[in-house]
Amino acid sequence: MNIIVTDDYEKMSRAAADVISTLVSEKPDCVLGLATGSTPIGLYAELVKDCAAGKISFADVDTYNLDEYRGLPGDHVQSYRYFMNDNLFDHVDIDKARTHVPDGACADAEAACTAYEEAIDAAGGVDLQLLGLGHNGHIGFNEPCEEFPKTTHCVQLTESTINANSRLFDSIDEVPREAYTMGIGTIMKAREILVVANGEGKADIVKRAFFGPVTPEVPASVLQFHPNVTVIVDAEAGSKLDL
Ligand code: GLP
Repeated sequence: MNIIVTDDYEKMSRAAADVISTLVSEKPDCVLGLATGSTPIGLYAELVKDCAAGKISFADVDTYNLDEYRGLPGDHVQSYRYFMNDNLFDHVDIDKARTHVPDGACADAEAACTAYEEAIDAAGGVDLQLLGLGHNGHIGFNEPCEEFPKTTHCVQLTESTINANSRLFDSIDEVPREAYTMGIGTIMKAREILVVANGEGKADIVKRAFFGPVTPEVPASVLQFHPNVTVIVDAEAGSKLDL
C-alpha cells in the first residue's frame, strides 16, 4: 500500500488526478471505476483541466460508478448520475453512452444489480477504481457489517451515512434509505485502487482503515489485502498516521 500525505486538499486533488491522467494517457481505452462525494470534486476539476489542455482524452474511456441512491432517477439533482455529469462528464470529451452508474430508478433491485455486475465483467473489469472513505469506513455504500458483501447489491443505509449525506438534501427526510453499490468483491477485482480522503474528520478512519485490523466492521480495511493500492490524503486526514 502506497500512502501519500499532501500539504492540502488542492495538492491531494492534483496528485490523485495525476494517477488517473497517467493511466488514461498510457491506456486510452481504460475502464475507470469512479466515486462521488465531496472528496473527489477537486480531482475531477483537475481532470477537466487536463482534458481542456489536450493532455488527455476520455473519448475511448469507459466508466463505472460505485453506487447510486435507490429511487432517484438520473436527472434528480442529488442522484450520483447527476453529480457525475455535473462534475466531470459534461466537461470532458467522454461518450456518455460509455458512462455507467447503477440505475437508481430500476424497480427490480436484483435485476439492476445483476445487470451492473455483468456489464463490468463484459467491459473486461475495472483498471482503476477511485474510492472516497465514509466516516464509518464505508467504501461505495458498503456499510460496516458482519461479512464483506461480494457483488453489486442493494443496501439499507446506516443512520450515520444518512446523517452525513443529509447536508446535501433540503431535509433529512429526503435522503433515500437504500442504495445500490458495487460489492467489496467487485471493488477488490479492480486492478488498481486509488483512495482519497481529506479533512480532520477523516483522520481517525484513515488510521483505522489502513493500520487497524482487517474487518467488515471497517469495510475499507479490506484494501490492506489488495496488491495495488494508493492512498492520497491531505495533512489533516493524515494527521494521526505514524509514517
Ligand atoms: C458517500 C458515498 C461514498 C463516498 C463517501 C464519502 O456516502 N457513497 O462513495 O466516498 O460518502 O463522502 P465525502 O467524500 O463527501 O466525505
